[in-house]
Amino acid sequence: MQLRVHPARSALSGSIRAPGDKSISHRAALFGGLARGTTEIRGFLEGEDTRATLAAVAALGAIVERDGETIRIHGGPLRAPDEPLDLGNAGTGIRLLAGALAGHPDLRGRTITLTGDGSLSRRPMDRIIEPLERMGARIGSNDGRAPLVLHPRPLQPIDIELSIASAQVKSAILLAGLNADGRTRVVSPAPSRDHTERLLPAFGVPVRVDGLRVEVDGPVRLRGGRLTVPGDLSSATFPLAAALLVPGSAIRLNGVGLNPTRDGVLRILERMAPGSVERQAGTIDCGAGDEPVADLAACHVGRPLGIDVPVEWVPLAIDEFPMLMALAAVAEGETVIRGAEELRVKESDRIAVMTEQLRRLGVSIEERPDGARIAGGAVRGGRVDAGGDHRVAMSLAVLALVADAPVDIDGADWIATSYPGFVEDLRTLGAEIEVLQ
Ligand code: S3P
Repeated sequence: MQLRVHPARSALSGSIRAPGDKSISHRAALFGGLARGTTEIRGFLEGEDTRATLAAVAALGAIVERDGETIRIHGGPLRAPDEPLDLGNAGTGIRLLAGALAGHPDLRGRTITLTGDGSLSRRPMDRIIEPLERMGARIGSNDGRAPLVLHPRPLQPIDIELSIASAQVKSAILLAGLNADGRTRVVSPAPSRDHTERLLPAFGVPVRVDGLRVEVDGPVRLRGGRLTVPGDLSSATFPLAAALLVPGSAIRLNGVGLNPTRDGVLRILERMAPGSVERQAGTIDCGAGDEPVADLAACHVGRPLGIDVPVEWVPLAIDEFPMLMALAAVAEGETVIRGAEELRVKESDRIAVMTEQLRRLGVSIEERPDGARIAGGAVRGGRVDAGGDHRVAMSLAVLALVADAPVDIDGADWIATSYPGFVEDLRTLGAEIEVLQ
């Protein structure tokens, strides 16, 4: 699919609901599949990534029912599927599932293969294989990459200090710890998203958190829970950025999750465009999973400013860098991103892909091993490619609103990974976007 995005001729306005949070939807589907009893999920993200996780738990024996906006998962004993489980593009899906199944008592003695698409098969899995093997797991791989071949067996708990701030690695180990006999402790080098820690208690599993240290005691079985998935701040970043870019815009995003381990983007936007995004008073609500939720109002306050992104904010905004790089492309002055080498092992090498695509639109950008230096200026129209990455596609589409001519974006199908309603939502706000193929 190709999109043609036209330069905005008028301000964006109106209000939309952010799509369900991808990270929390993965966890809700997975925990529901592992739990005994019924789990009820509202606001589940019907994206390709999270559907892959839901399909995986169904293949493992859970019964999944859809009832309007609600998904019910009836979990029972797990069974080994005959076919490999295909997690598509989903890093969270494959890594968390590997941890959860590595020692699962229902599956011991069986073999389960986890696969994914081309992008997922290039991403590093040794970061979970190595700690899980230290717990006693047996996992075959293609030289540290998917497909992963799990041979579930009894595990020992682990006390581990991670070298990277990764919620997927932390969660994979904690989920493996649920099937180990004793206390599993994971210490992170810096904060990473804490949805696993927040959600497990809603499934009857106590979790102790002390700063960067998280502990679970196994063996323990999850029991069915109920939750409403908040809107995804990472997806909300695209319409927010659109409002910041198009002169005169004022929009509203309803029901956005504002977990403090995810809100780095709001801190960065406050520096790039002070006063542009406001959390609406009186709307804070912490639902099951104890996730804070609020409405956000965003408006254009002038040309964004180039900034030196504080390195300690990088893990708190890690998925938002494609959009932030695109914003930097039209900012006043220079933006410097450092300490962001993790961007190279996401759905694409986001530093390389964004550098190449922004250059096609005339942006002056210097690629660095751990980030980039971007000189803000004008953006011209042209043709770009998503590089197999949903967030690259959406970032370029938003930037195109302020290009001097239409921008065609190839590979826009990838958007369905995390935000199937993206084009529709931007049109609701007034953007002119054609779907060409
Ligand atoms: C995620 C964790 C992050 C993030 C990804 C979702 C999660 O990855 O980039 O989009 O749901 O736990 P890492 O754990 O690799 O940092």
